[in-house]
Amino acid sequence: MKQSFISVQKSYPLEGTVNVSGSKNASMVILLSALLAKGISRFYNIPAIADVFQIGNLLQYLGADFTFDVQNNYVEIDTNRVENRPIPDEIMKTTRASILVLGPLLARFGSSFLGLPGGDAIGARPIDLHLDNMAKMGVSVGYANNMVHASVNAITGAYIVLAYPSVGATENILMLATVAQGRTTIVNAAIEPEVLDLIALLQKMGASITVMQTATIVIDGVKQLQPVDTYTIISDRLEAGALLIAAAITGGDIYLPNIMHTMLDVPLLKLAQMGYTIEYSQYMPGIRIKGCTQARAISFKTGPYPNFPTDLQAPMMAALVCAQGISIIEETVFENRLQHAHQLSLLGANIEIIHTNKAKITGVKSIIGATITGNDIRAVCSLVLAGLVAEDTTKVYGVSHWLRGFEGLEKKLNTLGAPVKLEAATSQLTI
Ligand code: UD1
Repeated sequence: MKQSFISVQKSYPLEGTVNVSGSKNASMVILLSALLAKGISRFYNIPAIADVFQIGNLLQYLGADFTFDVQNNYVEIDTNRVENRPIPDEIMKTTRASILVLGPLLARFGSSFLGLPGGDAIGARPIDLHLDNMAKMGVSVGYANNMVHASVNAITGAYIVLAYPSVGATENILMLATVAQGRTTIVNAAIEPEVLDLIALLQKMGASITVMQTATIVIDGVKQLQPVDTYTIISDRLEAGALLIAAAITGGDIYLPNIMHTMLDVPLLKLAQMGYTIEYSQYMPGIRIKGCTQARAISFKTGPYPNFPTDLQAPMMAALVCAQGISIIEETVFENRLQHAHQLSLLGANIEIIHTNKAKITGVKSIIGATITGNDIRAVCSLVLAGLVAEDTTKVYGVSHWLRGFEGLEKKLNTLGAPVKLEAATSQLTI
Protein backbone atom coordinates (compact mmCIF):
# COMPACT_ATOMS: atom_id res chain seq x y z
CA MET A 1 0.00 0.00 0.00
CA LYS A 2 1.20 3.51 -0.83
CA GLN A 3 2.66 5.21 2.23
CA SER A 4 1.53 8.72 3.06
CA PHE A 5 4.05 11.54 2.98
CA ILE A 6 4.19 15.32 3.08
CA SER A 7 5.54 16.96 -0.02
CA VAL A 8 7.24 20.34 0.48
CA GLN A 9 8.51 22.70 -2.21
CA LYS A 10 10.91 25.58 -1.72
CA SER A 11 8.76 28.49 -0.57
CA TYR A 12 8.59 32.20 -1.21
CA PRO A 13 8.59 34.27 2.00
CA LEU A 14 5.39 33.46 3.92
CA GLU A 15 2.93 36.29 4.33
CA GLY A 16 -0.42 36.77 6.02
CA THR A 17 -2.45 36.17 9.14
CA VAL A 18 -3.65 32.84 10.55
CA ASN A 19 -5.31 31.73 13.76
CA VAL A 20 -3.61 29.14 15.93
CA SER A 21 -5.67 26.06 16.96
CA GLY A 22 -6.40 25.01 20.52
CA SER A 23 -3.61 23.44 22.54
CA LYS A 24 -3.16 19.70 22.04
CA ASN A 25 -1.49 19.11 25.40
CA ALA A 26 -3.99 21.21 27.36
CA SER A 27 -6.94 19.55 25.58
CA MET A 28 -5.89 16.01 26.39
CA VAL A 29 -5.50 16.51 30.13
CA ILE A 30 -8.53 18.77 30.39
CA LEU A 31 -10.82 16.29 28.60
CA LEU A 32 -9.65 13.55 30.97
CA SER A 33 -10.25 15.79 33.98
CA ALA A 34 -13.96 15.80 33.09
CA LEU A 35 -13.96 12.36 34.76
CA LEU A 36 -13.48 14.08 38.12
CA ALA A 37 -17.15 15.12 38.20
CA LYS A 38 -20.39 13.37 37.40
CA GLY A 39 -22.43 15.13 34.69
CA ILE A 40 -22.05 16.98 31.41
CA SER A 41 -19.03 19.22 30.66
CA ARG A 42 -18.57 21.32 27.51
CA PHE A 43 -15.31 22.41 25.95
CA TYR A 44 -14.45 24.82 23.12
CA ASN A 45 -11.30 25.23 21.03
CA ILE A 46 -10.45 21.51 21.05
CA PRO A 47 -8.22 20.65 18.05
CA ALA A 48 -9.46 17.90 15.73
CA ILE A 49 -6.29 15.80 15.86
CA ALA A 50 -5.64 12.09 16.25
CA ASP A 51 -4.33 12.38 19.84
CA VAL A 52 -7.58 14.02 20.98
CA PHE A 53 -9.61 11.29 19.27
CA GLN A 54 -7.56 8.71 21.20
CA ILE A 55 -8.49 10.45 24.46
CA GLY A 56 -12.11 10.40 23.25
CA ASN A 57 -11.83 6.64 22.66
CA LEU A 58 -10.45 6.16 26.15
CA LEU A 59 -13.31 8.17 27.68
CA GLN A 60 -15.87 6.19 25.65
CA TYR A 61 -14.23 2.93 26.70
CA LEU A 62 -14.87 3.97 30.31
CA GLY A 63 -18.52 4.57 29.50
CA ALA A 64 -18.56 8.35 28.96
CA ASP A 65 -20.59 9.88 26.12
CA PHE A 66 -18.02 11.80 24.07
CA THR A 67 -19.39 14.00 21.29
CA PHE A 68 -16.93 15.91 19.11
CA ASP A 69 -18.29 18.57 16.74
CA VAL A 70 -15.07 18.93 14.76
CA GLN A 71 -16.38 21.79 12.58
CA ASN A 72 -16.76 23.93 15.70
CA ASN A 73 -13.95 22.37 17.76
CA TYR A 74 -16.54 21.66 20.44
CA VAL A 75 -16.59 18.64 22.75
CA GLU A 76 -19.33 17.53 25.11
CA ILE A 77 -18.64 14.82 27.66
CA ASP A 78 -21.29 13.12 29.79
CA THR A 79 -19.63 11.17 32.60
CA ASN A 80 -22.81 9.95 34.30
CA ARG A 81 -22.42 6.36 33.14
CA VAL A 82 -18.64 6.06 33.58
CA GLU A 83 -17.46 2.76 35.06
CA ASN A 84 -14.07 1.96 36.50
CA ARG A 85 -13.02 -0.68 33.93
CA PRO A 86 -9.47 -2.05 33.70
CA ILE A 87 -7.77 -0.22 30.80
CA PRO A 88 -5.74 -2.58 28.62
CA ASP A 89 -2.33 -1.86 27.10
CA GLU A 90 -3.77 -1.40 23.58
CA ILE A 91 -5.72 1.64 24.77
CA MET A 92 -3.04 3.00 27.11
CA LYS A 93 -0.34 2.84 24.45
CA THR A 94 -2.22 4.89 21.83
CA THR A 95 -0.97 8.12 23.40
CA ARG A 96 1.39 8.90 26.27
CA ALA A 97 -1.16 11.29 27.74
CA SER A 98 -3.45 8.36 28.61
CA ILE A 99 -1.55 8.06 31.92
CA LEU A 100 -3.36 11.26 32.92
CA VAL A 101 -6.49 9.17 33.42
CA LEU A 102 -4.97 7.78 36.64
CA GLY A 103 -5.48 10.86 38.86
CA PRO A 104 -9.14 11.34 37.85
CA LEU A 105 -10.01 7.63 38.26
CA LEU A 106 -8.39 7.44 41.70
CA ALA A 107 -10.19 10.62 42.72
CA ARG A 108 -13.58 9.38 41.54
CA PHE A 109 -13.43 5.61 42.26
CA GLY A 110 -10.51 5.11 44.66
CA SER A 111 -8.79 2.63 42.35
CA SER A 112 -7.56 2.07 38.82
CA PHE A 113 -6.20 -0.91 36.92
CA LEU A 114 -4.36 0.10 33.79
CA GLY A 115 -1.69 -0.88 31.28
CA LEU A 116 1.60 1.00 31.16
CA PRO A 117 1.80 3.82 28.63
CA GLY A 118 5.33 2.74 27.67
CA GLY A 119 8.21 4.65 26.10
CA ASP A 120 8.43 6.12 22.64
CA ALA A 121 10.93 7.36 20.09
CA ILE A 122 12.12 10.25 22.25
CA GLY A 123 12.90 8.27 25.40
CA ALA A 124 11.86 5.73 28.04
CA ARG A 125 9.32 8.09 29.63
CA PRO A 126 8.92 6.50 33.07
CA ILE A 127 6.04 7.35 35.46
CA ASP A 128 7.90 7.01 38.75
CA LEU A 129 7.31 10.67 39.65
CA HIS A 130 3.55 10.15 39.23
CA LEU A 131 3.36 6.93 41.28
CA ASP A 132 5.94 7.62 44.02
CA ASN A 133 4.34 10.96 44.86
CA MET A 134 0.78 9.66 44.72
CA ALA A 135 1.96 7.08 47.28
CA LYS A 136 2.58 10.01 49.65
CA MET A 137 -1.14 10.78 49.33
CA GLY A 138 -2.16 7.29 50.44
CA VAL A 139 -2.17 5.53 47.05
CA SER A 140 -0.80 1.97 47.01
CA VAL A 141 0.60 0.70 43.77
CA GLY A 142 1.08 -2.89 42.68
CA TYR A 143 1.88 -4.56 39.37
CA ALA A 144 0.26 -7.66 37.87
CA ASN A 145 0.47 -8.97 34.28
CA ASN A 146 2.19 -5.81 33.11
CA MET A 147 -0.67 -3.71 34.48
CA VAL A 148 -0.55 -1.13 37.27
CA HIS A 149 -3.05 -1.55 40.06
CA ALA A 150 -3.42 1.64 42.08
CA SER A 151 -5.83 2.04 44.96
CA VAL A 152 -6.50 4.41 47.83
CA ASN A 153 -8.80 4.29 50.87
CA ALA A 154 -8.57 7.92 51.86
CA ILE A 155 -6.82 10.44 49.63
CA THR A 156 -4.78 12.58 52.00
CA GLY A 157 -3.08 15.89 51.28
CA ALA A 158 0.73 15.75 51.34
CA TYR A 159 3.79 17.96 51.00
CA ILE A 160 5.35 16.87 47.72
CA VAL A 161 8.70 17.96 46.37
CA LEU A 162 9.12 16.89 42.75
CA ALA A 163 12.66 15.79 41.91
CA TYR A 164 11.98 17.19 38.42
CA PRO A 165 9.09 19.47 37.35
CA SER A 166 7.38 16.81 35.24
CA VAL A 167 4.32 18.14 33.42
CA GLY A 168 2.41 14.85 33.58
CA ALA A 169 3.27 14.12 37.24
CA THR A 170 2.22 17.65 38.27
CA GLU A 171 -1.09 17.25 36.40
CA ASN A 172 -1.89 13.80 37.82
CA ILE A 173 -1.07 14.81 41.41
CA LEU A 174 -2.99 18.05 40.98
CA MET A 175 -6.15 16.28 39.78
CA LEU A 176 -5.98 13.75 42.60
CA ALA A 177 -5.36 16.47 45.20
CA THR A 178 -8.52 18.39 44.29
CA VAL A 179 -10.60 15.97 46.37
CA ALA A 180 -7.99 14.98 48.99
CA GLN A 181 -8.56 15.42 52.69
CA GLY A 182 -6.53 18.48 53.62
CA ARG A 183 -3.83 20.44 51.81
CA THR A 184 -1.43 19.24 49.14
CA THR A 185 1.60 21.35 48.28
CA ILE A 186 3.57 20.58 45.11
CA VAL A 187 7.02 22.15 45.25
CA ASN A 188 9.10 22.34 42.03
CA ALA A 189 5.87 21.85 40.10
CA ALA A 190 5.63 22.20 36.32
CA ILE A 191 4.09 25.59 35.52
CA GLU A 192 3.73 25.17 31.76
CA PRO A 193 0.82 27.21 30.30
CA GLU A 194 -1.05 23.92 29.79
CA VAL A 195 -0.76 23.13 33.52
CA LEU A 196 -2.10 26.59 34.33
CA ASP A 197 -4.97 26.00 31.90
CA LEU A 198 -5.82 22.77 33.72
CA ILE A 199 -5.73 24.67 37.02
CA ALA A 200 -8.12 27.32 35.64
CA LEU A 201 -10.52 24.57 34.56
CA LEU A 202 -10.31 22.75 37.91
CA GLN A 203 -11.01 26.02 39.71
CA LYS A 204 -14.10 26.43 37.55
CA MET A 205 -15.15 22.93 38.62
CA GLY A 206 -14.93 24.00 42.26
CA ALA A 207 -11.33 23.10 43.19
CA SER A 208 -9.36 25.28 45.58
CA ILE A 209 -5.92 25.83 44.02
CA THR A 210 -3.33 28.58 44.44
CA VAL A 211 -0.19 28.94 42.35
CA MET A 212 2.62 30.47 44.39
CA GLN A 213 5.88 31.96 43.23
CA THR A 214 8.86 29.69 42.64
CA ALA A 215 6.75 26.98 41.06
CA THR A 216 4.69 25.86 44.03
CA ILE A 217 1.05 24.80 43.73
CA VAL A 218 -1.16 24.57 46.80
CA ILE A 219 -4.38 22.58 46.61
CA ASP A 220 -6.95 22.46 49.43
CA GLY A 221 -9.10 19.40 48.91
CA VAL A 222 -12.85 19.87 48.48
CA LYS A 223 -15.61 17.28 48.89
CA GLN A 224 -16.47 17.03 45.21
CA LEU A 225 -16.11 18.82 41.89
CA GLN A 226 -18.88 19.92 39.54
CA PRO A 227 -18.92 19.48 35.77
CA VAL A 228 -17.98 22.63 33.89
CA ASP A 229 -20.70 24.43 31.97
CA THR A 230 -18.32 25.67 29.28
CA TYR A 231 -14.55 26.02 29.13
CA THR A 232 -12.36 27.32 26.30
CA ILE A 233 -8.89 25.80 25.92
CA ILE A 234 -5.83 28.05 25.36
CA SER A 235 -4.14 28.34 21.95
CA ASP A 236 -1.38 25.92 21.03
CA ARG A 237 1.97 27.62 21.66
CA LEU A 238 3.80 24.82 19.87
CA GLU A 239 1.80 25.23 16.67
CA ALA A 240 2.34 28.99 17.01
CA GLY A 241 6.08 28.39 17.39
CA ALA A 242 6.09 26.21 14.27
CA LEU A 243 4.30 28.90 12.24
CA LEU A 244 6.64 31.64 13.47
CA ILE A 245 9.67 29.53 12.57
CA ALA A 246 8.17 28.78 9.14
CA ALA A 247 7.88 32.52 8.54
CA ALA A 248 11.40 33.13 9.87
CA ILE A 249 13.02 30.42 7.77
CA THR A 250 11.50 31.81 4.55
CA GLY A 251 12.22 35.46 5.47
CA GLY A 252 8.48 36.13 5.60
CA ASP A 253 6.17 38.38 7.57
CA ILE A 254 3.23 36.82 9.41
CA TYR A 255 0.86 37.69 12.21
CA LEU A 256 -0.76 35.28 14.68
CA PRO A 257 -3.64 37.18 16.33
CA ASN A 258 -4.69 34.70 19.00
CA ILE A 259 -1.58 33.77 20.96
CA MET A 260 -0.06 35.52 23.99
CA HIS A 261 3.67 36.23 23.84
CA THR A 262 4.02 35.06 27.45
CA MET A 263 3.64 31.47 26.29
CA LEU A 264 6.66 31.81 24.01
CA ASP A 265 8.94 34.44 25.53
CA VAL A 266 12.21 32.50 25.35
CA PRO A 267 11.73 31.18 21.77
CA LEU A 268 10.77 34.73 20.75
CA LEU A 269 13.95 36.05 22.39
CA LYS A 270 15.99 33.48 20.45
CA LEU A 271 14.32 34.41 17.15
CA ALA A 272 15.06 38.07 17.89
CA GLN A 273 18.72 37.18 18.59
CA MET A 274 18.81 35.50 15.17
CA GLY A 275 17.93 38.85 13.63
CA TYR A 276 14.16 38.56 13.13
CA THR A 277 11.85 41.38 14.17
CA ILE A 278 9.29 40.31 16.76
CA GLU A 279 6.33 42.51 17.67
CA TYR A 280 3.65 42.01 20.32
CA SER A 281 1.63 43.93 22.82
CA GLN A 282 2.56 43.33 26.44
CA TYR A 283 -1.08 42.87 27.42
CA MET A 284 -3.00 41.58 24.39
CA PRO A 285 -2.72 38.41 22.32
CA GLY A 286 -1.00 38.67 18.94
CA ILE A 287 2.56 38.08 17.69
CA ARG A 288 4.11 39.30 14.44
CA ILE A 289 7.44 38.14 13.02
CA LYS A 290 9.30 39.79 10.16
CA GLY A 291 12.16 38.22 8.24
CA CYS A 292 15.76 39.37 7.89
CA THR A 293 18.25 38.99 5.03
CA GLN A 294 20.70 36.69 6.84
CA ALA A 295 19.80 34.97 10.12
CA ARG A 296 22.56 34.57 12.71
CA ALA A 297 23.43 31.41 14.65
CA ILE A 298 22.30 31.19 18.28
CA SER A 299 22.60 28.64 21.09
CA PHE A 300 20.02 27.39 23.54
CA LYS A 301 19.22 24.69 26.07
CA THR A 302 15.75 23.17 26.44
CA GLY A 303 14.14 23.09 29.88
CA PRO A 304 10.89 23.29 31.82
CA TYR A 305 8.76 26.42 31.27
CA PRO A 306 9.61 29.28 31.03
CA ASN A 307 12.82 27.91 29.46
CA PHE A 308 13.04 26.97 25.78
CA PRO A 309 10.43 24.19 25.25
CA THR A 310 11.73 20.80 24.18
CA ASP A 311 8.80 20.59 21.76
CA LEU A 312 10.22 23.52 19.75
CA GLN A 313 13.80 22.25 19.77
CA ALA A 314 13.45 20.25 16.54
CA PRO A 315 11.62 23.02 14.62
CA MET A 316 14.22 25.56 15.79
CA MET A 317 17.04 23.32 14.62
CA ALA A 318 15.58 23.55 11.12
CA ALA A 319 15.78 27.35 11.36
CA LEU A 320 19.46 27.18 12.35
CA VAL A 321 20.56 24.98 9.44
CA CYS A 322 21.15 27.99 7.17
CA ALA A 323 21.90 30.58 9.90
CA GLN A 324 25.32 32.20 9.70
CA GLY A 325 27.81 30.81 12.22
CA ILE A 326 27.78 27.97 14.73
CA SER A 327 24.75 27.13 16.90
CA ILE A 328 24.76 24.76 19.85
CA ILE A 329 21.53 23.10 20.99
CA GLU A 330 21.41 21.18 24.25
CA GLU A 331 18.38 18.94 24.85
CA THR A 332 17.94 18.47 28.61
CA VAL A 333 14.31 17.28 28.89
CA PHE A 334 14.27 14.03 26.90
CA GLU A 335 17.20 11.66 26.50
CA ASN A 336 16.77 10.78 22.84
CA ARG A 337 15.43 13.77 21.04
CA LEU A 338 18.01 14.74 18.42
CA GLN A 339 17.19 12.10 15.82
CA HIS A 340 15.92 14.70 13.35
CA ALA A 341 19.52 16.00 13.13
CA HIS A 342 20.51 13.06 10.94
CA GLN A 343 17.48 13.56 8.70
CA LEU A 344 18.32 17.27 8.32
CA SER A 345 21.86 16.33 7.33
CA LEU A 346 20.40 14.27 4.47
CA LEU A 347 19.25 17.64 3.08
CA GLY A 348 22.82 18.95 3.34
CA ALA A 349 22.77 20.44 6.85
CA ASN A 350 26.08 20.39 8.71
CA ILE A 351 25.17 18.99 12.14
CA GLU A 352 27.44 17.17 14.53
CA ILE A 353 26.10 15.37 17.61
CA ILE A 354 28.34 16.03 20.59
CA HIS A 355 27.63 13.42 23.27
CA THR A 356 24.02 12.28 23.04
CA ASN A 357 22.13 15.43 23.87
CA LYS A 358 24.09 18.26 22.26
CA ALA A 359 24.10 19.26 18.61
CA LYS A 360 26.53 21.61 16.87
CA ILE A 361 25.04 23.19 13.76
CA THR A 362 27.34 24.97 11.36
CA GLY A 363 25.27 27.15 9.07
CA VAL A 364 25.37 26.21 5.37
CA LYS A 365 24.47 28.44 2.40
CA SER A 366 21.75 26.18 1.01
CA ILE A 367 20.15 22.75 1.33
CA ILE A 368 18.60 20.40 -1.23
CA GLY A 369 15.35 18.41 -1.02
CA ALA A 370 15.49 14.68 -0.27
CA THR A 371 13.30 11.91 1.14
CA ILE A 372 13.42 12.04 4.93
CA THR A 373 11.48 10.61 7.90
CA GLY A 374 10.39 12.05 11.24
CA ASN A 375 9.80 9.84 14.27
CA ASP A 376 7.70 12.13 16.45
CA ILE A 377 5.36 15.08 16.00
CA ARG A 378 7.99 17.76 16.42
CA ALA A 379 10.61 15.97 14.32
CA VAL A 380 8.20 15.75 11.37
CA CYS A 381 7.44 19.43 11.85
CA SER A 382 11.15 20.26 11.80
CA LEU A 383 11.66 18.39 8.53
CA VAL A 384 8.68 20.06 6.86
CA LEU A 385 10.01 23.48 7.92
CA ALA A 386 13.47 22.68 6.53
CA GLY A 387 11.80 21.63 3.27
CA LEU A 388 10.53 25.20 2.88
CA VAL A 389 14.08 26.41 2.19
CA ALA A 390 15.47 23.33 0.45
CA GLU A 391 15.92 23.44 -3.33
CA ASP A 392 13.53 21.17 -5.24
CA THR A 393 11.08 18.88 -3.46
CA THR A 394 11.38 17.40 0.02
CA LYS A 395 9.37 14.27 0.79
CA VAL A 396 8.71 13.81 4.52
CA TYR A 397 7.47 10.50 5.92
CA GLY A 398 5.81 10.30 9.32
CA VAL A 399 2.36 11.64 8.42
CA SER A 400 0.71 9.81 11.34
CA HIS A 401 2.77 11.92 13.76
CA TRP A 402 1.79 15.11 11.91
CA LEU A 403 -1.90 14.16 12.20
CA ARG A 404 -1.49 13.27 15.88
CA GLY A 405 -0.35 16.76 16.74
CA PHE A 406 -1.52 19.36 14.24
CA GLU A 407 -4.96 20.40 13.08
CA GLY A 408 -4.58 21.28 9.41
CA LEU A 409 -1.19 22.93 9.86
CA GLU A 410 -0.46 22.21 6.18
CA LYS A 411 -3.56 24.24 5.26
CA LYS A 412 -2.48 27.13 7.46
CA LEU A 413 0.95 27.03 5.80
CA ASN A 414 -0.79 27.00 2.38
CA THR A 415 -2.79 30.09 3.40
CA LEU A 416 0.50 31.85 4.13
CA GLY A 417 1.86 30.79 0.73
CA ALA A 418 3.86 27.65 1.57
CA PRO A 419 3.69 24.79 -0.96
CA VAL A 420 3.12 21.95 1.53
CA LYS A 421 0.86 19.04 0.62
CA LEU A 422 -0.28 15.87 2.35
CA GLU A 423 0.03 13.07 -0.20
CA ALA A 424 -1.98 10.14 1.07
CA ALA A 425 -4.80 7.74 0.52
CA THR A 426 -7.91 9.37 2.04
CA SER A 427 -8.28 6.42 4.40
CA GLN A 428 -4.92 7.26 5.94
CA LEU A 429 -5.90 10.85 6.52
CA THR A 430 -9.07 10.24 8.47
CA ILE A 431 -8.53 10.57 12.18
C1 UD1 B 1 4.53 16.73 28.41
C2 UD1 B 1 4.01 17.07 27.03
C3 UD1 B 1 5.13 16.95 26.00
C4 UD1 B 1 6.33 17.79 26.42
C5 UD1 B 1 6.74 17.47 27.85
C6 UD1 B 1 7.84 18.39 28.36
C7 UD1 B 1 1.70 16.37 27.17
C8 UD1 B 1 0.66 15.43 26.72
N1 UD1 B 1 2.96 16.16 26.71
O1 UD1 B 1 4.94 15.37 28.39
O2 UD1 B 1 4.63 17.41 24.74
O3 UD1 B 1 7.41 17.51 25.55
O4 UD1 B 1 5.62 17.60 28.74
O5 UD1 B 1 7.44 19.71 28.29
O6 UD1 B 1 1.43 17.32 27.88
N2 UD1 B 1 10.03 11.83 33.80
C9 UD1 B 1 10.49 10.89 34.71
N3 UD1 B 1 9.57 10.30 35.54
C10 UD1 B 1 8.26 10.63 35.52
C11 UD1 B 1 7.80 11.59 34.58
C12 UD1 B 1 8.72 12.19 33.74
O7 UD1 B 1 11.68 10.58 34.74
O8 UD1 B 1 7.49 10.06 36.30
C13 UD1 B 1 10.99 12.46 32.86
C14 UD1 B 1 10.66 12.11 31.42
O9 UD1 B 1 11.19 10.86 31.05
C15 UD1 B 1 11.29 13.26 30.68
C16 UD1 B 1 11.09 14.44 31.66
O10 UD1 B 1 10.86 13.86 32.92
O11 UD1 B 1 12.65 13.03 30.47
C17 UD1 B 1 9.96 15.37 31.28
O12 UD1 B 1 8.76 14.64 31.21
P1 UD1 B 1 7.33 15.28 31.52
O13 UD1 B 1 7.49 16.71 31.88
O14 UD1 B 1 6.63 14.38 32.48
O15 UD1 B 1 6.63 15.18 30.10
P2 UD1 B 1 5.21 14.60 29.76
O16 UD1 B 1 4.21 15.04 30.78
O17 UD1 B 1 5.30 13.16 29.42
